[in-house]
Amino acid sequence: MADLAHDPNARADGRHTLELGGVLPSHIGINAAGHLSLANVDLVDLAKLHGTALYVMDEAQIRCQLLAYESALASRWPDFEVAYAGKAFLCKAMCKLVAEEGGWLDVSSGGELACALAAGFDPSQIIAHGNNKTEHELGEAITAGIGRIACDSFEEIERIERLAAAAQRIQQVYLRVKPGVVADTHSHIQTGKQDSKFGFGLSDGWAAAAVEQAMNAGHIELAGLHFHIGSQIFAFDSYEKAIEALFDFIAHTWATYRWLPAEIDLGGGIGVAYQATDRPESIEQFAETICSALERQCQRLGIDAAKIKLVVEPGRSIVANAGVTLYTVGAIKRLEGIRNYLAVDGGMADNIRPALYNAHYECAVADRAAEPRSELVTVVGKHCESGDVLIIDASIQPPKVGDTLAVFATGAYNQSMASNYNKQPRPAVLWLRDGEVRQVVRRETYDDLLTCDMG
Ligand code: LLP
Repeated sequence: MADLAHDPNARADGRHTLELGGVLPSHIGINAAGHLSLANVDLVDLAKLHGTALYVMDEAQIRCQLLAYESALASRWPDFEVAYAGKAFLCKAMCKLVAEEGGWLDVSSGGELACALAAGFDPSQIIAHGNNKTEHELGEAITAGIGRIACDSFEEIERIERLAAAAQRIQQVYLRVKPGVVADTHSHIQTGKQDSKFGFGLSDGWAAAAVEQAMNAGHIELAGLHFHIGSQIFAFDSYEKAIEALFDFIAHTWATYRWLPAEIDLGGGIGVAYQATDRPESIEQFAETICSALERQCQRLGIDAAKIKLVVEPGRSIVANAGVTLYTVGAIKRLEGIRNYLAVDGGMADNIRPALYNAHYECAVADRAAEPRSELVTVVGKHCESGDVLIIDASIQPPKVGDTLAVFATGAYNQSMASNYNKQPRPAVLWLRDGEVRQVVRRETYDDLLTCDMG
């Protein structure tokens, strides 16, 4: 695990407040040249050297977030795993980092699994997710020796049984259940309510039927139960409610089938600060909430907590605040009495979140970061859509064409959701650490864009 003592900017509790100057994440600095810097690397120089748009990430920050989960759980639960949710950001370097830090990995597609295997990640420490994994994906996972598959439908249990039998394996599975809680977040990323495409309902008898089906399958070992109630969650009482509903169900599976889960996977979901006004709860608080709720429920049912492995699957809270996207300002349109449009050389193809979820971000002019933020601008991208807006009404240092604009907290669900809209090559990803720069994903070229085009 990374050593917090060597990272003056990291906070052991993983809590990030956007403090510096009111709007800069606390681990981002301003150097002697007045430029923004991340991990002691000058972001203006970096943009000039590598071109923009450019994703940059503070490697130490990622490691510290993983460490914060590990240490928060280590002091509260005897047997646990932190399975990083690769959908937030995945590349081979990220898989290796997670392995180095002793984490497990959660993958949500055959592509993510292929990336993990290419990086040499131990398949027995991977959990496969998805509400409709294809026959092909399931076959690949089982052949690779994947640790757990989180089953999402009756059809899938049947498929896994058939494929595991053919591979002469006993496949460990979780059942994904929906506890019927509505997490306090954007409706597109609420996943634990009854009206959801994910999982088996606890209250409608589906989960019980799935337990029965899995228990009767000769090549399936029902290792545990899983839920994921949503993402970017600030209020943790929904975890408590979901855990209570889960244990009501466990009481039923014990009474009816004499079956108790050996593992309980509570998914991911901790929210992060995107704006100065966001006040997310800490990783410590998350661990405290879930572990004390689990303990209470174990006591209620007379279950020995030490026999249950706890798994969590954080994605966003590991990588979001580590990331910054750098753009070059290309055009400024000051529309008298309307608004100032600031156009950058990226946009909805490298960050779809504002358009998709009305997500808010903060930014700064990296070249003159210490100067007063005296101008209000709307940051727009270069794509052929009026909805290609990155930030409405950002208050920034007076911008000039050619400046580097830094948008903060873009480490999660930006690169992983990036597209080639308008045949835009996707940006490179650079990892920064103690003044060192490492390219972990190179920028796409026009040739890359045409690789699959058969003419
Ligand atoms: N486990 C499962 C089964 C999940 O579906 C997810 C996220 C996670 C873990 C990780 O959740 P996190 O800790 O990152 O909140 N594209 C959206 C987020 C979708 C999340 C989908 N599932 C966004 O940009 O906000």
